[in-house]
Amino acid sequence: MQRTDISSLLTPLVVQPLNARQISAFAEHGYLVLPSFLSTKLVETLKREVDHWVDERLREQSIACCHSQTRQPPPLMELELTEHGWLISHPPLMSILTQLMGSTFAFHHLHSDRHNSGSRDKNWHHDYEQYPQTNRSHMMIHVFHYLNGLNRTIGNLVLLPGSQSIVAERKALSCLGTMSLPGEVVINDLPPGSSVIIQSSLLHARRAQPGGEEQPRYFIDCSYCQGGVRWPADRSYWRHMLSRARGLGLDRGQWNNLFDERHFYDPYDGMSAFKQINQGSLLEQLVLTI
Ligand SMILES: [Fe+2]
Repeated sequence: MQRTDISSLLTPLVVQPLNARQISAFAEHGYLVLPSFLSTKLVETLKREVDHWVDERLREQSIACCHSQTRQPPPLMELELTEHGWLISHPPLMSILTQLMGSTFAFHHLHSDRHNSGSRDKNWHHDYEQYPQTNRSHMMIHVFHYLNGLNRTIGNLVLLPGSQSIVAERKALSCLGTMSLPGEVVINDLPPGSSVIIQSSLLHARRAQPGGEEQPRYFIDCSYCQGGVRWPADRSYWRHMLSRARGLGLDRGQWNNLFDERHFYDPYDGMSAFKQINQGSLLEQLVLTI
């Protein structure tokens, strides 16, 4: 009896952590909650790095660099903290992002902070990067990692499901502060190592809460941009940041597009010229000729 060669019938092993219900919920509501997504060991290491980042004033220096828009990078970037860097391409997360955005997407930025008791509100806003805000043709995603989880102290994460399709300036609803909005979802009870994935255009806020003196909030957020259009780069030293990530091998030799410069343009030098032309209808200025 002749043996059948079945190798041509096998499909490559593709890890797909999300089921169809989760994918459609993400499309409809704009967010997904992943309880205990990061391992206990990884969480402990990341927390030590956050402490170092905050206590050694590295975060302060990084923010000063961003505000001054200098091309000179700070003494240390978040992705140079060892496990913070690897977190960007955490394999289970990469599999999820591939399901949500397709195979081509880019790293945009990584932030890390420790929120202490008494931390203030962060008003309603979204984080979709676009100048000006005119469409949602391509997806941008933020991943919020809550290393200590959420426990009703310090601040609740508040989301407005479905709002990811609203096209508005990032702080358009900031005038509402963190007031309760119809249909909002309050996320305030998550175990350590939980992650919340949101479409960056989803309106969200941090609503301050009392308590938390004994347990600060460890918070890392990382964002990604879908391929297909160029996105505004996050920091004035973005080329150095992406180059450093490539040099450290943070793409794991597998996610070769993750730190490509080709996904971005530099918005910094064009801002004043843009303000000059951003009057009336851009349709007329960009397309129509009289
Ligand atoms: Fe935000």
